[in-house]
Amino acid sequence: MSNNNNLLIVTSALPYANGPLHFGHLLEHIQTDIWVRTNRSLNKECIYLCASDAHGTPIMLKAEEENTTPETLIKKITSEQKQSLVNFNIVHDNYYTTHSEENKYFSELIFNKADTKKLILRKEIEQLFDDEKGLFLADRYVQGICPKCGAKEQYGDNCEVCGATYEATELIEPVSIFTGNAPSVKKSEHLFFDLESCSKSLKDWINKTDLQSAVKNKIKEWFTNGLKPWDISRDKPYFGFMIPGYEDKFFYVWLDAPIGYIASLENYLKRENSSKNSEELWGKESNAEIYHFIGKDIMNFHTLFWPCLLEAGDFKKPNNVFVHGFMSLNGKKMSKSKKNFLLVDDYLKIMKPDLIRYYLASKLSAGVDDLDMDFKDFQKKVNTDLVGKFINIASRSQGFLKKDSNRIGDELDETIINEFVEQKDVIFNLYIDREYSKAIQKIMFLADKANQYIDSHKPWELNKDSSNSLKVKKIASTSINLFRILNLYLEPVIPETSERIKNYLQSDCNLGDLSIHLTNHKLEKFKPLLTRIEDEEINRLIEISQNG
Ligand code: MSP
Ligand code: ZN
Repeated sequence: MSNNNNLLIVTSALPYANGPLHFGHLLEHIQTDIWVRTNRSLNKECIYLCASDAHGTPIMLKAEEENTTPETLIKKITSEQKQSLVNFNIVHDNYYTTHSEENKYFSELIFNKADTKKLILRKEIEQLFDDEKGLFLADRYVQGICPKCGAKEQYGDNCEVCGATYEATELIEPVSIFTGNAPSVKKSEHLFFDLESCSKSLKDWINKTDLQSAVKNKIKEWFTNGLKPWDISRDKPYFGFMIPGYEDKFFYVWLDAPIGYIASLENYLKRENSSKNSEELWGKESNAEIYHFIGKDIMNFHTLFWPCLLEAGDFKKPNNVFVHGFMSLNGKKMSKSKKNFLLVDDYLKIMKPDLIRYYLASKLSAGVDDLDMDFKDFQKKVNTDLVGKFINIASRSQGFLKKDSNRIGDELDETIINEFVEQKDVIFNLYIDREYSKAIQKIMFLADKANQYIDSHKPWELNKDSSNSLKVKKIASTSINLFRILNLYLEPVIPETSERIKNYLQSDCNLGDLSIHLTNHKLEKFKPLLTRIEDEEINRLIEISQNG
């Protein structure tokens, strides 16, 4: 039964289908993509899945605003999102949508199993309703006076002034943000998932899973506060899947959203005519490993609710959930209304994907710390590291091979080449541990070393005397080989540039070929492999990000 050994199922969180992707999304997809590429270069089979998250009130309202149907809206946005990520060379195997037949099937399956296991509770609750708009008001759609401290204009879940949490119905003088009307209070039956009954299996999962310490601490906090039943239903009007057995109740978007990972897998396997199905690959007994990459704001959904849903549905729980921090722009929170915002498509109008991939990698760690994208720092990092250190190894060596029609010689300095090869495991283990910034540091340390090697051998001096031509050739040939190794080390991060470099090297090599060096080998004619980021480009980026 264990023919799924060595298979990794990897996901990035499913972006909401109500708008184009911004730099926060990009951070996550780049982080995941580097990890998937790393695993693949180590010969692990990976299925990398994503989708758009298509349900919920905001999408329903957005469609209304655009005079269209939610179905049309999500189709358009899903395909735009998909294309944006392809443009950054993100290698999803499937970018699906949660509004799909497969997702409906698995959502009902998991719900029905949970219901049979008596994990679904039914309880009448009171909710605020905007009669004019004809809508139940989620917490962010009501404002009123904080019942604890009296602060005005606070949302329905917690007070930003005193930090109190409360029910929306407790707000004093509540108003709907849509109409400004005082909402009415309506009673209706909601369905709840009984998390407490899953607490044992949840604890077992947490104990055996190597979660980040910040994540473990957060989970402990939830346990201390008690696992309250989780409200999984929403009343009409709503955009989502109908709950079996009801005419006017829908699954809450966060019930079917993570199930969308399984649905995306199922759709992928069908499309590939695979002999496997997702119930097998995601089944309890599967040896496939499951990894989710997410941001810290959606930790509870992935490390609390999701494992409980999987338990209820007899599916396998994730092998890990990798949580990253939040990205800010030029030291400030990313916000469209505050004119500090960058869409991924806008970046691409000005610059190449590899540059931002490199910059983000150079800043990413395995922790949940936030990370700032500073445009000037970005320019400096790319120009210093990628152009000034890495590419420079080739640009300053290639000239010495020109008179031999760009041919690498027979003789190499094996010692330094072997030193570089020996760093492979250290570097790739850092990638696997998601310590990308440390991996990049190691690679740049080697790039410095390669440049020092050239500096100390002074081929330009030797070249003045034709009797040194073999020596010069050896230095240049060695340098190009060092460059080739570093290119393989950087490949998960800058795939497009790496491909161009491989083309220049005329060597379609992979990590497994590290012990073979290039000798007596003809190179393509040298063309600049990467150019510096100019001030003008950075200024345009700043302008776009401030004008929205
Ligand atoms: N639809 C849900 C996820 C469902 S997964 C079953 C959602 N969507 S989202 O579009 O708001 O966010 C998608 C991912 O992008 C999340 O992991 C979120 O943390 C991440 N980010 C959104 N803004 C971000 C930053 N500013 N910085 C880093 N990541 C951010 O949540
Ligand atoms: Zn308050």
